[in-house]
Amino acid sequence: MTIKKHTNALSNPVFKTVSNAATQLNLECYVIGGYVRDYILSRGDSKDIDIVAVGSGIKLAEKVSQLLPGKPKVSVFKNYGTAMVKSGQIELEFVGARKESYQEDSRNPAVEEGTLEDDQNRRDFTINAMAISLNEETFGDLLDPFNGIQDLKNKVIRTPLDPDITFSDDPLRMLRAIRFATQLQFKIEEKSFTSITNNAERIKIISTERIVDELHKILASPKPSIGFAILNKTHLLPHILPELSDLKGVDEIKGQRHKDNFWHTLEVVDNIAKTTDNVWLRWAALLHDIGKAPTKKFDKKAGWTFHAHEFVGSKMVYKLFKRLKMPLNEKMKFVQKLVFMSSRPIVIASDVTDSAVRRLVFDAGENIDDLMTLCEADITTKNPVKFRKYHENFRKVRDKIMEVEERDHIRNFQPPISGEEIIKTFNLKPSREIGIIKDAIKEAILEGKIPNEYEDAKQFMLQKGKDLGLKIVI
Ligand code: CTP
Repeated sequence: MTIKKHTNALSNPVFKTVSNAATQLNLECYVIGGYVRDYILSRGDSKDIDIVAVGSGIKLAEKVSQLLPGKPKVSVFKNYGTAMVKSGQIELEFVGARKESYQEDSRNPAVEEGTLEDDQNRRDFTINAMAISLNEETFGDLLDPFNGIQDLKNKVIRTPLDPDITFSDDPLRMLRAIRFATQLQFKIEEKSFTSITNNAERIKIISTERIVDELHKILASPKPSIGFAILNKTHLLPHILPELSDLKGVDEIKGQRHKDNFWHTLEVVDNIAKTTDNVWLRWAALLHDIGKAPTKKFDKKAGWTFHAHEFVGSKMVYKLFKRLKMPLNEKMKFVQKLVFMSSRPIVIASDVTDSAVRRLVFDAGENIDDLMTLCEADITTKNPVKFRKYHENFRKVRDKIMEVEERDHIRNFQPPISGEEIIKTFNLKPSREIGIIKDAIKEAILEGKIPNEYEDAKQFMLQKGKDLGLKIVI
């Protein structure tokens, strides 16, 4: 066991308060887990602090609250034997040291009390099992029984015990291993890796909410492909996102091949991660081609086709979000819309006309920039000439969008003539004609026949009414 002073980690006065509370209750306590890991990695001050008490974590939390200014509320989670206290920005989570499995989802609260070492044994990874003492005499000592420090240096994810035990205690940890490997760009040690592969099936017992939490974190990482490649290699992927694993593989008929859409997708996700932190845009990149698996066909003349894969893909987004209990709100609609429109800018890029761009901006609305970002990320050709050309084409589309926007303000299109004005002008009852005229005005603007201005639209409306045989009454 390494003992080294790490008082710098404890400069926040809240640690002294916890230390004093522990002295008053005469129990041992330690800061443990992510806070210690991130401090050693200099990943910035984490605001979530896990404290383990050898004894009652809830009692310690109550004592700490009494000693803190303003005596903040203690939230007790009896089933888990944990308690939470908020002090300013900081969230202190207290737990009693346990001997047996870490069972976050257990409905059975019976957990046997244990020593610090028992508790460290039952944690997920060596880098998350390091503890720093908060006790008066040993304040700042690092207790690192599995040499997590070394694993941090070597960038290794490893379980403290036999990985089969650690992962069966909580199969979500298989995903956590992959998530940490992605966030920190660490390697999963071989035995742990093999164990994940052998136990992949067990992920089925984990709630989708916890799984999605990890997926979000993988996607929010600087290089998400690391995580998805490991999910693939460990065979977890088909249990979690079968739509993605279905994209794997290259078929060949009559010497014609298509690209491997799984590996292509991962490149797209990495590309987009370089330009945006918007996790929903990253989801759109991850799912933009999922419609290609069910729509793939070989046509003697055209070769490989994925007809209407954008439409099919956008329908699949809804099902996927529903299955994973992700929000079915505007976030899902955003992802659906981007998947649905993902080929539109490409189609017009080689011949950028004003009206095509106006239609694109009209349909994409406020999501036009995100759609362009997705399309640029979608360029994964290894041919430098093509790469430059495709980017140049999108540059032209972007320029044209700016130009058209300045002139025609299509992005948040509001019809310049309301239905009400049409009704009054021709003294109409609710009827088909109102819709016909409204549509014709919109079409004329998008086609560039008239500018998006009130007076022009009014003249157009009068003419259109006349053509329909309507009488002007005002
Ligand atoms: N832990 C565990 N097994 C789990 C979840 C958590 O052993 N399935 C332990 C680890 O010691 C972990 C600590 O509980 O460090 C706190 O968990 P959590 O707050 O979920 O993660 P952090 O490690 O703090 O990392 P992050 O905040 O990035 O999720």
